[in-house]
Amino acid sequence: MTEIWTLGRMLAWATPFLQKHGSESPRLDAELLLCATTGLRRLDLYIDHERPLQPDELERFRALIRRRARAEPVAYILGHKSFHGVELQVGPAVLVPRPETESLVDRALQFLATEAAPSGMVVDVGTGSGAVALALAAALRARGDARPIGATDISAAALDVARANATQLGLDAALTFAEAPLLGPFAAPSSLAGVYSNPPYIRRDRLAGLPLTVRGYEPRLALDGGEDGLDVLRPLARAALVALQPGGQFAAELGDREQGREMVQLLQGAGAVDARCDPIGPGPTAIVSARRAV
Ligand SMILES: C[S@@+](CC[C@H](N)C(=O)[O-])C[C@H]1O[C@@H](n2cnc3c(N)ncnc32)[C@H](O)[C@@H]1O
Repeated sequence: MTEIWTLGRMLAWATPFLQKHGSESPRLDAELLLCATTGLRRLDLYIDHERPLQPDELERFRALIRRRARAEPVAYILGHKSFHGVELQVGPAVLVPRPETESLVDRALQFLATEAAPSGMVVDVGTGSGAVALALAAALRARGDARPIGATDISAAALDVARANATQLGLDAALTFAEAPLLGPFAAPSSLAGVYSNPPYIRRDRLAGLPLTVRGYEPRLALDGGEDGLDVLRPLARAALVALQPGGQFAAELGDREQGREMVQLLQGAGAVDARCDPIGPGPTAIVSARRAV
């Protein structure tokens, strides 16, 4: 007798299989991949758990599960990831946007809503999929703030993804992209209201210890921060303090408290005010921020 593979049974098979192959969220991964295969919502997987899969669905689901078992990120398999309320296309040219980076967007939005915030452009350095720049653009437009937003990256392939995302979200007019290091063409002195970045900050000797799903798939350019992880952040902070208007904000994600301490010292030494480092979430990741003195 041929076996009937229902939704419930497929999940009961795929979850321990993915766990055995190193997934840290095997049930969620299996559910997302089953939704992508069937077009169902996650809730439907429970309501209709007795629904049998069609032979073509079975074949497609097994192929997706095999990709995930080889540690390919779920977001690359699905081709999209939601970030701070915007849906982004993602692929191997860009880092998968992380939930902790949403805190960087919140930090910027909070500051830009204050009376102390200068008017004028904000820039996202190392934009990748466009995550920070596009989330900022969407939220600023929603509250009637039409300030221009610049976004740089040294990866032409990443910028292609970011531009496509801007078009898809109807935000082209809000953004100017530049293939350039650090602030690129947006570095004019005393011109910017905010400089934001989630740069590569992993210490080089820790790259080999990252999970396979990261080190085997995500771009090295997005991860490798040099010997102490601050190769991009250090010159960026210095450039930002020149390009910001008095009172303008610099904020960036970094990997741990030690990097945070170094960056706070650097910012204070360069004359910035309110330099601080705040942890985000339960892990070591943190946000360093400061303002150019008025
Ligand atoms: C950690 S990823 C962040 C991507 C995106 N902002 C996010 O949060 O999902 C860092 C990005 O910085 C880019 N990058 C690396 N070095 C850079 C530099 N010197 N100037 C500008 N961008 C750089 C990489 O290509 C990569 O897209």
